[in-house]
Amino acid sequence: MTEPIINISALNKTFKSKDSSYKALDNISLSINKGDIYGLIGFSGAGKSTLLRMINALEIPDSGKIEIDGQDIVGLSDRKLRSIRKQIGMVFQEFNLLESKSVYENIAIALKINRFDKKQIHNRVTELLKFVGLEGKEKSFPDELSGGQKQRVGIARALANHPKILLCDEATSALDPDTTESILDLLNKVNKEYGITIIFVTHTIRVIQKLCNKVAILENGKLVENGNVIDIFSNPKSAIARRFVESVIPSKIPSGIVNELKKYKGSYRLIRIFFHAENATDDVIWQINNRLNVHTNVMFASVSEIRDVVLSVITLQITGKQEDFDRTYEYIRSLGISFEEVNI
Ligand SMILES: Nc1ncnc2c1ncn2[C@@H]1O[C@H](COP(=O)(O)OP(=O)(O)O)[C@@H](O)[C@H]1O
Ligand SMILES: [Mg+2]
Repeated sequence: MTEPIINISALNKTFKSKDSSYKALDNISLSINKGDIYGLIGFSGAGKSTLLRMINALEIPDSGKIEIDGQDIVGLSDRKLRSIRKQIGMVFQEFNLLESKSVYENIAIALKINRFDKKQIHNRVTELLKFVGLEGKEKSFPDELSGGQKQRVGIARALANHPKILLCDEATSALDPDTTESILDLLNKVNKEYGITIIFVTHTIRVIQKLCNKVAILENGKLVENGNVIDIFSNPKSAIARRFVESVIPSKIPSGIVNELKKYKGSYRLIRIFFHAENATDDVIWQINNRLNVHTNVMFASVSEIRDVVLSVITLQITGKQEDFDRTYEYIRSLGISFEEVNI
């Protein structure tokens, strides 16, 4: 499952008008593996949609490469692009359904373009309606559907031609939180049952937390940080990654406790430890107390779910001497557990 399906290298794009120019993508390189659910996150204007549209060749870079299954799509003929695009489905924030067509017809359109016969179209649409949970809705029109149902139609349409890749641009940003959850569950099912690689653009870190295994953070057209979601959540490096992560993983010590602690500064250290997956149930704190001759006290703790992994963030006060602190840090490091010193 670690075979790349999309390889982006040194991608640049500047939008120019008569009297201004704007660098929307600045030297972006990114590799997406088969089976990934890869999140692209950033604030509005970061360049997310531009990057997504380039993977579909709807936007042409000034320089750089976009390889899909090893083939560079930049500069391909229209005929070749059509065959690449067949492998890619797209889902939009505003659903982009044809209002004058029924649910059935909205999904069938993608198949008609590819000249399937009536029977094939009927079978595929029926199968898709079942998959997205819209059985019995085939005769409804978009304005009779809820936002979540409309997006289910959008997803069914995008899946019609058995794509290998699904591109989602803010696909849940027009939906309420509960509906968002159910659409994310559906996309997870698309990934698991059909093995489709998903790239999901969003400005909401909760979506990344629930859905994605990988994430890239974009800021002003630059790739600031990328990697496994669990690694970035447990050790965000850039300021923007910290900002996103802190908004969903509480790790700050409450101010009342901070005020108390400030009175005794010097005789202790504060460290924030990130436990997840394999190490989550180890008796690390017990070991620290017993082996290393220090006293520990839990100042703050939180437990969060990141996709199917539990992340516990524990802030410990450690009382002891400098050499005890050094040995404690060395011990935690030797376990491969990430932690950081906290200054108050
Ligand atoms: N076709 C275009 N012409 C001119 N500027 C554009 C065009 N598309 C996007 N931009 C600009 O590029 C920047 C990135 O846009 P976009 O990729 O849509 O950001 P995001 O999806 O992260 O909000 C924005 O400043 C936007 O105004
Ligand atoms: Mg956008």
